[in-house]
Amino acid sequence: MLKNIRFTQWGALAAFTIYLGFAFQACTPTQNYAEMPVPNAEMAHKSGQPLDTLGKGYALSQVHCSQCHEFKLPENMRVDEWHTIVPGMAWNAGLNKEDEAAVMAYLVATTEQIEKSED
Ligand code: HEC
Repeated sequence: MLKNIRFTQWGALAAFTIYLGFAFQACTPTQNYAEMPVPNAEMAHKSGQPLDTLGKGYALSQVHCSQCHEFKLPENMRVDEWHTIVPGMAWNAGLNKEDEAAVMAYLVATTEQIEKSED
């Protein structure tokens, strides 16, 4: 009797472990994210954007772009994709055109920096 209970418990544990394995696999994101880099002189120089603008874009995106989803840079993002995404997201965030331009400048500069560091 006692043996039977133990057997059942191990069986349940094994089944649960296998289930967890599958569940974990299913939830593992295929997309990789990078932390947002803080703009610096080097980024400003490479992007040809004033450091002020990049700093403003960084601050704005940190505040506004993390309202609905976590704000991390999708690693495989291309520069041209930001031009499609940012206007809609800026509208989501209620940014005016000037703030949107700063956010765009920051995101493009960051993406360029990531792309170049991969070469
Ligand atoms: C009001 C909510 C809201 C705000 C604010 C917001 N987003 Fe989003 N964002 C979403 C939702 C919902 C999705 C997923 C659906 C979609 O792609 O439209 C998304 C998706 C995204 C994606 C993935 C798009 C893709 O096609 O892979 C990126 C990148 C992104 N947001 C960036 C931003 C940036 C940058 C900002 C700030 C300017 C921002 N978001 C602000 C709601 C928001």
